[in-house]
Amino acid sequence: MMNIAVAGTGYVGLVAGVCFAEVGHQVTCVDVNQHKVDLMKGGISPIYESGLEELMKKNYAENRINYTTNYKEAYAEADVIFIGVGTPEQPDGSANLSYIATVARQIAESINNDTLVVVKSTVPVGTNDKVEQFIHDFLVNDVRVEVASNPEFLAQGSAVHDTLHAERIIIGTESKWAEELLQNIYKPFNLPVVSVNRRSAEMIKYASNDFLALKISYMNDIANLCELVGADIQDVAKGMSFDERIGSKFLNAGIGFGGSCFPKDTKALDYLAKQNGYELKTVQAAIDVNKEQKTMLYKKASRRLITFNGLKVAVLGLTFKPGTDDLREAASLENIPLLLEQGANIYAFDPVGAENFANIHPEGPHGRGSITYVSRVEEAIKDANVCFIFTEWGEVKEVTPSMYNELMRTPLVYDGRNTYSVEEMEKAQVEYHSIGRKIAERQNMKESNKRELQSIRY
Ligand code: UDX
Repeated sequence: MMNIAVAGTGYVGLVAGVCFAEVGHQVTCVDVNQHKVDLMKGGISPIYESGLEELMKKNYAENRINYTTNYKEAYAEADVIFIGVGTPEQPDGSANLSYIATVARQIAESINNDTLVVVKSTVPVGTNDKVEQFIHDFLVNDVRVEVASNPEFLAQGSAVHDTLHAERIIIGTESKWAEELLQNIYKPFNLPVVSVNRRSAEMIKYASNDFLALKISYMNDIANLCELVGADIQDVAKGMSFDERIGSKFLNAGIGFGGSCFPKDTKALDYLAKQNGYELKTVQAAIDVNKEQKTMLYKKASRRLITFNGLKVAVLGLTFKPGTDDLREAASLENIPLLLEQGANIYAFDPVGAENFANIHPEGPHGRGSITYVSRVEEAIKDANVCFIFTEWGEVKEVTPSMYNELMRTPLVYDGRNTYSVEEMEKAQVEYHSIGRKIAERQNMKESNKRELQSIRY
């Protein structure tokens, strides 16, 4: 078993650290924030991730994991140091490597025996070479230090599972010594390991993520065409999925991809290509389609309604996908400001993301509009004039088609996640707009319409 230090306790670092401890390694997680460190020692995770806190508590109790701000000590004692700090996107689409650089320098100034430094953060191809050079430039003691690449492929919401049961481990090394060390670390996981050189490993991460992003954008593009020509994207996806070369996953058309990876990694690879004098047209198309897709439903609803001004607008789901409190690049972040600008009175429901969202858009009036956070879906849709579904939370899926009809003032639903069957919405007399499918129209004037007429007879 090895002594491992992990720099950064976000999704990448903390989940990796906890999983290394779980398979028996001795792990120290380093973070600059003392408050965060104290919380983690108490078994509280700074990120919302299913199953993570249980493993944190268990491995802390069994002395296999510890948390510290004292990087000097942690790095000095480690055989292997994993870097899992953030590489946020900069305005030009490139990755900000300043956190990586800070950690690299701290490592150089702390280590006093031979150490393998492993970059887990997603970094542009060639960064590992630079990190190695950087560490050598600042190295204080005469020790061997090498950098390896080990990208992760975890999805938020299933991060622990994805790490412990990964489909493959990618290791990118430039020496037998580094390769063997990493092979040993991953041996207890008993998973397939693909060993390549550093630059290929860095590229595998981007190429994989961007391929998935492209797959989603492709389905969204086809979905938009389906609407125009009277085909149904879900049936189309089903038909496609039987071809093993296509596969059945990531064929869901929707409101576009969000999150911390796909938007950032598509832009970063596009940027890298441009820097090298190459135009990566496929990835650019994935980015463009996604941008359009995010506000597609808002635009449709704007055309359908005269105005949002003074309307009660239910918003179901704020996070970029279910199972996480992460709002990064979520459709809600694009659409809610547009709705507020138009004077909508928004009633937003999200089982875990509301608090984070309220930090950006506090409850209360916003210009002509307003936003209220509710803890039950029913409160959001009750008497609403229109409802937008942005995230397919279980709580949202539990709402039956007839509930929209019964509770809303006008049963008008714009669903960015194709949560319902068009036929069932039609049967329940809900006007239902989704992605890549026909519109469910209301046949008759409903009770709810009468209620609306009464209310405007003032
Ligand atoms: C993703 C990758 O899955 C993971 O391997 C990588 O390491 C990091 O990025 P994550 O961002 O957590 O993980 O979520 P994921 O479940 O992949 O979804 C990303 C976005 O695509 C979400 O907004 C989701 O709603 C959307 N999506 C996904 C679709 O619109 N359609 C699909 O079929 C699948």
